[in-house]
Amino acid sequence: KENVVTIPVVVHVLYKNSEQNISDAQIQSQLSVLNADFRKLNADFSTVVPAAFQGAASDMQIAFCLATKDPSGNPTNGIIRKSVASSFVFDDNYYVGSNGGDNAWDPSKYLNIWVGAFTNNNLLGWAYPPVAAGYPDDGLCITYTAFGTMGTAQAPYNKGRTATHEIGHYFGLNHIWGASNNPTVCGTALNDDGCADTPATNQPYFGSPVFPDNSFMCNPTATGAMFMNYMDYVRDGSMAMFTNDQKTIAQNTLSGPRASLLN
Ligand code: ARG
Ligand code: ZN
Ligand code: CA
Repeated sequence: KENVVTIPVVVHVLYKNSEQNISDAQIQSQLSVLNADFRKLNADFSTVVPAAFQGAASDMQIAFCLATKDPSGNPTNGIIRKSVASSFVFDDNYYVGSNGGDNAWDPSKYLNIWVGAFTNNNLLGWAYPPVAAGYPDDGLCITYTAFGTMGTAQAPYNKGRTATHEIGHYFGLNHIWGASNNPTVCGTALNDDGCADTPATNQPYFGSPVFPDNSFMCNPTATGAMFMNYMDYVRDGSMAMFTNDQKTIAQNTLSGPRASLLN
């Protein structure tokens, strides 16, 4: 049945210099990626997802829009820009206005995304899972070098997939290899992502693997691992799908702990 929900998004840009004060167009480019990836409308789907896995791929039926009303009901473009001190630690203070960050808009009503510069340049982003629903730090943090598809976004993380991946976590999805990176946990709950249609692996895939690759599978098959899933660790250009079981988890989150986003 056709039932697409739309999530209101607010982007908090916390910048130390003009380069980090990314453009509205760059933010729009990220929204466009989300609206393609979560609807299985991404142009790279048929080239990146092998035929063997295309049948397991899902339209998540989730759309995103920049908020048009702020928490007081006033018109907004859904983008907040805040200049922060050069000493500002984005990692800890992003959601603390009194420490120079920017307070969330009611996280039970908006998906808050903070964009800034992490202390560790290799960190692309993080997100809170549904158990954090409504907490003041709930939402996503993404580095300005991996947000959107233009401007300050840098290859190989310039296709907007960091936010796609992080929003997967936000809706309750785990990594394909489960909660542990320990190869010895195959067959335990620790390496189960709760999805029967994502073959179990015992560690992330990185870079741009060539299909088929079963090197990290718990039960190796000729079809190989689903490393092209958004919830693996491959480069942006090598990930292009969510599965039907992942959709079930996300939709359960939207009728459960994150239902208030749709009010
Ligand atoms: N390491 C991050 C995480 O586990 C993000 C990985 C994003 N991958 C990407 N190709 N953009 O949440
Ligand atoms: Zn992750
Ligand atoms: Ca699985």
